[in-house]
Amino acid sequence: MGKMKDMIFVTKILVVILLHFVISTGASTSSINTKRPLKNHSSVSVLYPPVQLHKYDDHVVVDNGIFSITIASPEGIVTRINYNGIDNILNDRNENSDRGYWDVNWSDPSDLKDGHLDKLTGKHLDVIVNNENQVELSFKRPWTFAQEKNQVSLNIDKRFVVLRGLSGFYSYGIFERLRGWPDVDIYQGRIVFKLQEKLFRYMAVSDERQRLMPTFEDREKGKPLDFPEAVLLTHPSNSRLQGEVDDKYQYSTENKDNRVHGWICSDPPVGFWMITPSNEFRNGGPVKQDLTSHAGPVALSMFFSTHYAGPDLGMKFRDGEPWKKVFGPVFIYLNSVTTEESPLSLWDDAKEEMLVQTNSWPYHFPNSSDYPRAYQRGLVTGQLVVRDVGLAFANSAFVGLAPPGALGSWQEESKGYQFWTQTDEKGYFEIKNVRPGYYHLYAWVPGYIGEYMYQSIIYVLKGSKIRMGLLVHKPPRNGPTVWEIGVPDRTAAEFYVPPPNPTLMNQLYASQRTDSFRQYGLWDRYTDLYPDKDLVYTVGVNNYQTDWFFAHVNRHVGNKTYVSTTWTVLFDLEDVITGNYTIQLALASATNAEVQIRINGVGDASLVFTTKLIGKDNAIARHGIHGLYWLYSITVVHSHLRAGKNALYLKQTRGSYPFSGVMYDYIRLERPSRY
Ligand SMILES: *[C@@H]1O[C@H](CO)[C@@H](O)[C@H](O)[C@H]1NC(C)=O
Ligand SMILES: *[C@@H]1O[C@H](CO)[C@@H](O)[C@H](O)[C@H]1NC(C)=O
Ligand SMILES: *[C@@H]1O[C@H](CO)[C@@H](O)[C@H](O)[C@H]1NC(C)=O
Ligand SMILES: *[C@@H]1O[C@H](CO)[C@@H](O)[C@H](O)[C@H]1NC(C)=O
Ligand SMILES: *[C@@H]1O[C@H](CO)[C@@H](O)[C@H](O)[C@H]1NC(C)=O
Repeated sequence: MGKMKDMIFVTKILVVILLHFVISTGASTSSINTKRPLKNHSSVSVLYPPVQLHKYDDHVVVDNGIFSITIASPEGIVTRINYNGIDNILNDRNENSDRGYWDVNWSDPSDLKDGHLDKLTGKHLDVIVNNENQVELSFKRPWTFAQEKNQVSLNIDKRFVVLRGLSGFYSYGIFERLRGWPDVDIYQGRIVFKLQEKLFRYMAVSDERQRLMPTFEDREKGKPLDFPEAVLLTHPSNSRLQGEVDDKYQYSTENKDNRVHGWICSDPPVGFWMITPSNEFRNGGPVKQDLTSHAGPVALSMFFSTHYAGPDLGMKFRDGEPWKKVFGPVFIYLNSVTTEESPLSLWDDAKEEMLVQTNSWPYHFPNSSDYPRAYQRGLVTGQLVVRDVGLAFANSAFVGLAPPGALGSWQEESKGYQFWTQTDEKGYFEIKNVRPGYYHLYAWVPGYIGEYMYQSIIYVLKGSKIRMGLLVHKPPRNGPTVWEIGVPDRTAAEFYVPPPNPTLMNQLYASQRTDSFRQYGLWDRYTDLYPDKDLVYTVGVNNYQTDWFFAHVNRHVGNKTYVSTTWTVLFDLEDVITGNYTIQLALASATNAEVQIRINGVGDASLVFTTKLIGKDNAIARHGIHGLYWLYSITVVHSHLRAGKNALYLKQTRGSYPFSGVMYDYIRLERPSRY
């Protein structure tokens, strides 16, 4: 541990040196005083200048003395952020419309080939609040039936808020559809900032995941790999990056951890951070993964998307369904230090600011009745225990409120709000700041298969405190365990993740055990390890951490051809008991895959189960260690088994495509309970 810390320290020193000496600067460092960010937002001091709004023909400027933001009006697109001597933090070589903007990706279900990317360009500006402590602007685009064809059928209200004394600004969006509007599929919504490439070269996503990044041009001059997002850097401007792979999906993060990320400029030492203080408006629940920042330099806040989950997460509006949802506010935070201090300390400060923002949620300032204040929200508490082979507290269980649906439906839910927390070691949970509405309470517990759902719908009222009391989760089980492979935790992280092809590395993950799955091309390492014969796992002999490949992928047989593979689990039974055995098959991911299970034979007579064609989460290609969770409880009539040696075959039948396959979460064989 001490060694690892030392290594990180050394790397950081190297990076600081790099930042100081390698990066050229285009900034005009004027003599504006560096304001230390204010850490106590409730004591906005009169020491800070008032917020000022200046309106011009085609833009507005909001200035609070710490920074100023220029927004095209009425479009509602950020064109300039002036801070700490940097004339424009945003990339002013880009068009005005391509610097700081909201967008939505949608299609008309009667014409699915015709996808649109809509930048939600405003039609008029409303000044909602304009006083010395707050300026709040609303850029609106109402929808009508006469609208242009490429505009999504939503009423758009994009808000920007600047507060006095705060080194950054907020943005949130209110999207609305009225009853009777046309069918539409909406796949993705986000806010995007594209920064000055000469200045912002160092990106930070977490304590461990930060590095000097390639430039946009480095990518352009590189060699695209199996998909265009992944590029081998063949002519990088910084020779240290020569031969590395860059892919934005290598920087993805689970929603629960996707709270602060961004970029550092070393000269002048300035940070630009995307802070997302709540997950209530994101889709797919706490472990859905999404993009963060990536080469460009780009910083995103993804509000909803189909990444690592599939098109079923798209919002489908049919039969004139009305809808309204508030996305954000997110906080765009600017910080700086003196040239004597390490620019990397900006990351530590950004994390602190993230905590300040998170603790101030729900905010008191958004001037919209669609955004409930703390007193208008509710609280739900309780305690969860698990009754499996014994009774145990549900430790670190995920407990959440999401729109009513079937077990697991929250994984594919995008229209409503979700509120998740984790239990303490005694299973107690407290879900705070819940918007009034109807919910189901869902939970799952690391270490156990399946998931819990409270039987009735929960109605949260304004200001209500709902005590659920003791909840008992009974995970699926039909009998005692004969054997098991893996840990039921909804990821494949505990299995064998191979080292990457040494010519296709991202050096960031070279020394990291926990994130090694983020390397490019691991799907082809299966072929390197198992060139002719597939994986065989002998229960009681093999170890799943070293002998179970993390993804059941196809074999590359040359000329871009991939063939289906069959894995074997060998196990002994002392005797066979009359009755039904059960296979609990939990998948952590599936993409264009079909898993067939046969026992003691490869013919049709031995077939005990097929998943049929499932999955579009694409987690293998996107270097995620999981996508959506699937659980199958499979009955195996005892006549399939025999005393002595048995073989269970897992065949992923869909060949041809390199990214078809599944990741197993956990497999268990149970014997009949009537012993
Ligand atoms: C923030 O400032 C207010 C008013 O000055 C004070 O009451 C409060 O204790 C401060 N909070 C923190 C966390 O320092
Ligand atoms: C919309 O997003 C989906 C998923 O990210 C992508 O497949 C599609 O190409 C995008 N369409 C447009 C028009 O950008
Ligand atoms: C919006 O601000 C105005 C005054 O600036 C105030 O009267 C009103 O209550 C505010 N509304 C909300 C929803 O915050
Ligand atoms: C590779 O596959 C393509 C398409 O299937 C085929 O046309 C081509 O002849 C193959 N090349 C070799 C060297 O086998
Ligand atoms: C075993 O499974 C078969 C097939 O699903 C079913 O018909 C039978 O009732 C089960 N037997 C017992 C004892 O549960």
